[in-house]
Amino acid sequence: MYLHDNWYVAAFAEEVTRVPFRRTLLDESVVLYRTEAGGPVALSDVCPHRRAPLHLGRLLGDVIACPYHGLRFDPSGKLTQSVARARGGSPELVGLKSVNSGGRTGNADSGSAS
Ligand code: FES
Repeated sequence: MYLHDNWYVAAFAEEVTRVPFRRTLLDESVVLYRTEAGGPVALSDVCPHRRAPLHLGRLLGDVIACPYHGLRFDPSGKLTQSVARARGGSPELVGLKSVNSGGRTGNADSGSAS
């Protein structure tokens, strides 16, 4: 059992780059990366469509694209492009859980909360 709504160390500031990677925090898989402006992002690593690991996806600006069908999520976890939308269909239906990644570190991170 974990205490939620508390701060935990997710990574050293220098570990979080423009290359997404996965960490397990509180038994949940989280993808970490930085925005183009340098802000830290922490989102659920599990795509809500078919549960593909988002850390294997690619960054399109600040948006992360799922490696499987290409759903795209902004740094807040909001779906910005669905498979259906890409094909001219219905709008987005889902989003991702965002982990507040305020970049609280003792000395190295100037990122803003997302
Ligand atoms: S599993 Fe991510 S878009 Fe389908």
